[in-house]
Amino acid sequence: MTRIALATCAALPDLDRDDLPLQDALTGLGVEAVATVWDDPAVDWAGFDLVVIRSAWDYAQRRDEFLRWAEQVQAVTRLANPSSVVRWNTDKHYLRELELAGVPVVPTMWIEPAQNLSSRALHTRFPAHGDFVIKPAISAGSVDTGRYTAIDATSRGLAITHARRLLGADRTIMVQRYLKSVDTVGERAHVFIDGEHSHSVLKGAMLDGPDVGVDGIYKEERMSPTTASAAEIEVSRNAIAVALDTVRASSPAGTDLESFLYARVDVVSGDDDEPVLMELELVEPSLFTSLAEGSLDRLAQAVLRRATAGR
Ligand SMILES: Nc1ncnc2c1ncn2[C@@H]1O[C@H](COP(=O)(O)OP(=O)(O)O)[C@@H](O)[C@H]1O
Ligand SMILES: [Mg+2]
Repeated sequence: MTRIALATCAALPDLDRDDLPLQDALTGLGVEAVATVWDDPAVDWAGFDLVVIRSAWDYAQRRDEFLRWAEQVQAVTRLANPSSVVRWNTDKHYLRELELAGVPVVPTMWIEPAQNLSSRALHTRFPAHGDFVIKPAISAGSVDTGRYTAIDATSRGLAITHARRLLGADRTIMVQRYLKSVDTVGERAHVFIDGEHSHSVLKGAMLDGPDVGVDGIYKEERMSPTTASAAEIEVSRNAIAVALDTVRASSPAGTDLESFLYARVDVVSGDDDEPVLMELELVEPSLFTSLAEGSLDRLAQAVLRRATAGR
């Protein structure tokens, strides 16, 4: 019998709601689909034909451990997406590579811990007007992400505290203008399965103020089905193609990188209304199959194909 592990985190040992239908669909296909906690030492990863990373949302502060885990799993069985993808995609510095290759991304100022900036120096780097966002380069689930108002002294002070807290923990921060379209139009998530566009969902705004800490490992999202414009699909396809080329170049021979099992391309409208990339999720995106007819079956079939490939 084909056995597939759906890797999750200790806080969600029975999987996130978003992934339960996948487990059921795989069971319906005659496969044993088991929820496994990625850092549970008792799991025998070699006993699975395929390990699919799903709601492993607690790696942001221990990424090295997560990368080691991905490499160890890949040494004994198939991992989707592969460990070289996990390495590349869990640090948002990848956005710079995509940008260099011509993909439009949200304009970002990167501040590295090694720069040792004083509060004053941080202050001068924050935007002078409008709202702005501070978030860690290694993050998931909108955790440690805050929205600030440039001309409000209290808000600016909170932004500096937030930035110093992350930098003090040796984490790179990203500073971006708050894109108003996130409030008015919404962020769009385009889900690709095995390289093909499957469905798209609209995501409501996530940030209403300073980072006050999240009670849990992710912030609750409000999603609804939507259709994708041709321009957004074009940007998404291009981002995925560049990512595939980039990761292939750094992958050991034999890595399965025909296509990504899943990719979610999060797109927002820039100030001139053109689509820009907020993030390319290749590791642990919610896939929202419950919002799009047929998408669950496409995903389950794609998972099964990988699990049984070469048999
Ligand atoms: N520049 C921005 N403008 C508006 N909203 C933003 C911006 N950056 C992040 N956000 C909000 O914060 C959420 C999380 O940010 P994101 O970069 O997607 O990180 P994560 O990896 O935590 O999902 C986004 O879905 C969006 O709602
Ligand atoms: Mg996101």
